[in-house]
Amino acid sequence: MENTRNITEDLIYIGASDRKIALFESVYPVPNGISYNSYLLKDNKTVLFDTVDKSVEESFFENLKYALGGKKLDYMIINHMEPDHSAMIKRTTELYPDIKIVCNQKTKQLICQFFNLENEFENKFQIVKEGDTLNTGKHELTFVMAPMVHWPEVMVTYDKTDKILFSADAFGSFGAINGNLFDDEVDFASLIPEYGRYYTNIVGKYGMQVNMLLNKAKNIEIKTICPLHGLVIRKNIEKIVEKYYNWANYKSSKKSVLIAYTSVYGSTQNTAEILAAKLAQKGICDIKMYDVSMTHDSYIISDIFEYSHIVLASTTYNNGIFVNMENLINEIISHNIQNKIWAFIENGSWAPVCGDLMREKISQIKNTTILDKKVTIKSSPDKTAKEDIVKLAEAIINSLN
Ligand code: FEO
Repeated sequence: MENTRNITEDLIYIGASDRKIALFESVYPVPNGISYNSYLLKDNKTVLFDTVDKSVEESFFENLKYALGGKKLDYMIINHMEPDHSAMIKRTTELYPDIKIVCNQKTKQLICQFFNLENEFENKFQIVKEGDTLNTGKHELTFVMAPMVHWPEVMVTYDKTDKILFSADAFGSFGAINGNLFDDEVDFASLIPEYGRYYTNIVGKYGMQVNMLLNKAKNIEIKTICPLHGLVIRKNIEKIVEKYYNWANYKSSKKSVLIAYTSVYGSTQNTAEILAAKLAQKGICDIKMYDVSMTHDSYIISDIFEYSHIVLASTTYNNGIFVNMENLINEIISHNIQNKIWAFIENGSWAPVCGDLMREKISQIKNTTILDKKVTIKSSPDKTAKEDIVKLAEAIINSLN
């Protein structure tokens, strides 16, 4: 199949895209599909960089055969063992029996677990550790460990010869490859929100580990990034590295307010709208509002990373937090989203309790500021509640300034 593309004279893209998938990892909506990237280096020795997901199995093997052009396959480097990249390891090894699987010790253990291998592949592994190199002729490949970006076994590989970083999940994105493989062939700026949604939801929890990888990357010259999902990046490297630095350090790119609400009969929404209007009247721009029941958490999580101030407005439900808001808060906590300023609005017709419950949950996150002013409404905002909304707006504006 000729849907391969050359990245350099020696390096060929042999991945494939799935546009039928609804939920990536059974969680994240991917309306524009997803690509599973794999690369073949043709040097004196041939090297396959990761495999693909089961859904694109046939395309991958056709691409691999076509790209090899009759050469034998010498090495398969496994940078990441998650099955969306590793599903084809066993079949590749069976089809190319002389292959060496190059990976670290943790990856080997996971390969044996996933494929229920005892000793079948024992003589096929070439175990590498931090700083080890593999010479393939013209190219020298160096292995750099990147644990928890996104799984514990993750490593990245650097081709010193062409200054290419095979970055595993890092610098990837949701979205299929539509012929245009390189970032300079598309409107890259318009794709940044999907890079953000991918990063924040998939590896957003591991800011410290991403920082460690960014620090290692500082010391090497990178001309091209080949990630396991999304575009090959060669023009916007500085831009994407800067975005990663901000996301990894939970730096808000927008000094503004994101209001996320759940509302059963409209009063909590109305209260959120009043707050947004008061803030806008005082000159706050770029306010964002989400009905948590209508938008998938992954989009809200991604925007929460960008905003400095977050207001959560919820209905009390079963003497607790409304279920969709509670799910969002659990996601916020599990993604460890730090350095935000939070405020809460609660509704409850006879026993409003969810404001304190939301506060209690959010206060578990490190480096969190919570504004004292809480708005309580009973069924619909009365005079006192409306005065409190004005006070909350003032408190938010003061802290923005
Ligand atoms: Fe795309 Fe962590 O796998």
